[in-house]
Amino acid sequence: MEQPLTIAVLGGTTREQRESIKAARYVANFGATLPGVDIIFVDPKEFNFPGDGNDPEGKDPRYSEITSKADAFFIVTPEYNHSFPGSLKRMLDSELANYNHKPVALAGASNGNWGGVRAVEALVPAIRETGLVVLSWDVYFPRVQDMFDSEGLILPEFAERYEGNLTKLYAELIWFARLLKNGRERI
Ligand SMILES: Cc1cc2nc3c(=O)[nH]c(=O)nc-3n(C[C@H](O)[C@H](O)[C@H](O)COP(=O)(O)O)c2cc1C
Repeated sequence: MEQPLTIAVLGGTTREQRESIKAARYVANFGATLPGVDIIFVDPKEFNFPGDGNDPEGKDPRYSEITSKADAFFIVTPEYNHSFPGSLKRMLDSELANYNHKPVALAGASNGNWGGVRAVEALVPAIRETGLVVLSWDVYFPRVQDMFDSEGLILPEFAERYEGNLTKLYAELIWFARLLKNGRERI
């Protein structure tokens, strides 16, 4: 019996009125239903990263522990000015070795039609530099403000499509997570 995989699902913003956090929680809750997977949800609002960079004083020890333990990552980012939020960059920058040779799936969210595609495209070169292995396709949440009810549940008209998308993307993420975990342990 294989050990469960730990997947860290990262929200992308600390903004008070943020809508993308609903998509991030949905992605995390969906992952938690999958067999053999432990999900850790990372809300950037609950972490503290003084200054810039990845010096010891610029880290949050709880985030260090999560990234060390994680076998894979799933980042759900909103689009801010055709890129991703500074708080997400700050959080990602706080670690380096803990990302190496681990896969990452990406999802974008926006209040318009594009679903955060430009944020995801902007994120790719930055996370590639960390040593994370980026999957070749993503999930998008256009008009994210209209997709979830007040409890954060996905509305019925979207459920089937997103369950299908996430089933496929998690399957790919898990495949890479097992492959790379094996590689990290043996090579
Ligand atoms: C500073 C800022 C910049 C934004 N820039 C864009 C943008 O370039 N493209 C876009 O589609 N939406 C943009 N939005 C709108 C977000 O897509 C929208 O707020 C959406 O709900 C996701 O972000 P949120 O989680 O902060 O709510 C921007 C929002 C903020 C706060």
